[in-house]
Amino acid sequence: MADVVRVIDLVKTYYLESVTVQALRGVSLTVEEGDFVALMGPSGSGKSTLLNQLGCLDRPTSGHYYLGDEDVSQMDDDQLSEIRSRFLGFIFQSYNLLPQYTVVENVEIPLLYQGIKLTERTREWCIHLATLVGLGDRLDHRPMQLSGGQQQRVAIARALVNNPHVILADEPTGNLDSRTSDEIMERLQQLNDTGKTIIMVTHENDIASWAKRVIRMRDGHIETDERNQHRTIGKALAKDGVNFNGFSQLPVNV
Ligand SMILES: Nc1ncnc2c1ncn2[C@@H]1O[C@H](COP(=O)(O)OP(=O)(O)OP(=O)(O)O)[C@@H](O)[C@H]1O
Ligand SMILES: [Mg+2]
Repeated sequence: MADVVRVIDLVKTYYLESVTVQALRGVSLTVEEGDFVALMGPSGSGKSTLLNQLGCLDRPTSGHYYLGDEDVSQMDDDQLSEIRSRFLGFIFQSYNLLPQYTVVENVEIPLLYQGIKLTERTREWCIHLATLVGLGDRLDHRPMQLSGGQQQRVAIARALVNNPHVILADEPTGNLDSRTSDEIMERLQQLNDTGKTIIMVTHENDIASWAKRVIRMRDGHIETDERNQHRTIGKALAKDGVNFNGFSQLPVNV
């Protein structure tokens, strides 16, 4: 498998008035296409900082980051935003759904940000994604009318709308009870089974056990990087027979 993410000696230093914080102190990491990585480590160890770098939401102080073949560490803001919309999908703990919009409209939002004209076909695509995450009977509901797990599933559908190569998730089950967390993790595993690369921050061992690889950080370094031997592949996919392969038929030009 090709490397989809290649990070070389990445340093991120925050300069505040009185203190300097070395949030990343030389992180090197490669992630193969189709991998499922859990990023763990104590509070303040640099997990979110690394995820923000991988998500092209911020530039490193030094070091290189190749996403596919492109060195994104040298890009300007416009180029970064273009790379984000072409390659990446984001799932955050707080969902970031817009309360006045319906499920389908929330899924459509990243397309609007990319300047893609909404049409019948993009609408069908968004309905397809909402249905894939089990919200086919909630298309016109607003976020307030959904449970926490359902809101997080909207966030997953929205993260898929640009058919991303890499999905980045920061504590995707952080606010959810354990049953709903498992449901969300099954969805992520299904996506991974179809070849999507996933990099996910979590504090919880139970959640990390869904990943194929667990990286532990400490003080801005990678401390350990291990393959998860017990990860079962294909379980969830076989169970409800959802077909994610239709993702290649993305009706929008991204
Ligand atoms: N924007 C910022 N400005 C200054 N310092 C920051 C900024 N963001 C993070 N830091 C500091 O960088 C270090 C790493 O923070 P980061 O948010 O990456 O930790 P984390 O591993 O995600 O922690 P948590 O598990 O609590 O979310 C911390 O010491 C934090 O205080
Ligand atoms: Mg964090």
